Amino acid sequence: MDLYQFPDVTARMPFLADFDDAPTDQEVAALVALLRPRLRNVIGITIGKGGQGKTTLASNIAYMLAEEQAGRAANGKSAKPILYVELDANGNGRREFGLQGGAFDDDGARLLKAITMDGDFEVVRGVKPYLDSTVSGAKLGDLSSRISRISMAHGRGANLLLALLLAQVSHLYRWIILDFSPGDKETQRSGMAAATHHVAPIMDSDNGTLDGLSTLAQLLRRTRRLLNPEAEITAIAFLGFAKRLEEQTAQLEIVRTKIEDQLTKANLDPGLMLDGFVRKADGLAALCRNQGRPAREMAMAAAGELKDLETGQFVPRPRDERGRLVEPTTAIKLAGDYGELVGDLIRRARARNSVLRGQDEQGAVA
Ligand SMILES: Nc1ncnc2c1ncn2[C@@H]1O[C@H](COP(=O)(O)OP(=O)(O)OP(=O)(O)O)[C@@H](O)[C@H]1O
Ligand SMILES: [Mg+2]
Repeated sequence: MDLYQFPDVTARMPFLADFDDAPTDQEVAALVALLRPRLRNVIGITIGKGGQGKTTLASNIAYMLAEEQAGRAANGKSAKPILYVELDANGNGRREFGLQGGAFDDDGARLLKAITMDGDFEVVRGVKPYLDSTVSGAKLGDLSSRISRISMAHGRGANLLLALLLAQVSHLYRWIILDFSPGDKETQRSGMAAATHHVAPIMDSDNGTLDGLSTLAQLLRRTRRLLNPEAEITAIAFLGFAKRLEEQTAQLEIVRTKIEDQLTKANLDPGLMLDGFVRKADGLAALCRNQGRPAREMAMAAAGELKDLETGQFVPRPRDERGRLVEPTTAIKLAGDYGELVGDLIRRARARNSVLRGQDEQGAVA
């Protein structure tokens, strides 16, 4: 694991230099059109309500995808790492990979500078095999106000700074997973401008969650008009719902029915809801975060099958906070849920991307 600075990333502010305080829609659209093909591997995890499992889902998606790439590399196939980026000032993302309080934890200062001050873009390389991560934290609390200040001089272009940054490194990654919260308007706009695919996690069954989903749909509509014509919900993922005999219970069925209604009214496809879902596992989810191990890694460790990359030795089986060995069965099942969910999600993202590429080609011919 090391701190890696991308050598070829150029300053982003010059791209906005031509934008005065009110760039025309055409000026913004011309820049967006250049960026779009480079951002098709960016998946945003967001919803208009807090605490719905964005960070848990995003970090587990990133881990599962990285594991797949590591497997490809081990079999001599082409492989690229995954990048995880959290824009949230609560900084929970850095816990998921064990970065909290470590040598590279700067509370999000580097990321804030990179996005808003043309700072160098640095990531922690190899937080897990084939997985790189930026570091979030309290410093990112200033992200929205800084972007807002930049927008006074450069209008909507300020919301493209993140997209301009990621577009310069996206070819080095198979997928970039962007975890951003609904709280700060400018941050959310920036995330929506950067990500082509949006995944909405749903963890609660109350109606506030439904509101969160309609807020997301509304924001995406606005984003499509101004900052990213390709911003769509690619999938809705359910987390933390009970499974009985490996099937969903009435609780999730009811939520699905309500969301189906809502999607239909908004002219969206109810098929956006992924069939697979992540089972309820409160204690284990907390343990995974506290120990910096995504579910799949926890499952491998609990089964005594995880090797330390440096020593090549099996790592000791993890224990819970009361000192008891983590029971592998639940961890394996939880990891299995993520595996199924991620497989379905990526199939959808790839299918959408091939449609978008087809449109690029038609555009080029015309
Ligand atoms: N499978 C699960 N079953 C039950 N609880 C879970 C599960 N997965 C995650 N959780 C718990 O749900 C809570 C919220 O998750 P998380 O922090 O990922 O949400 P978030 O949307 O990122 O929140 P925030 O808006 O605060 O950033 C956490 O306490 C987490 O441990
Ligand atoms: Mg979070």
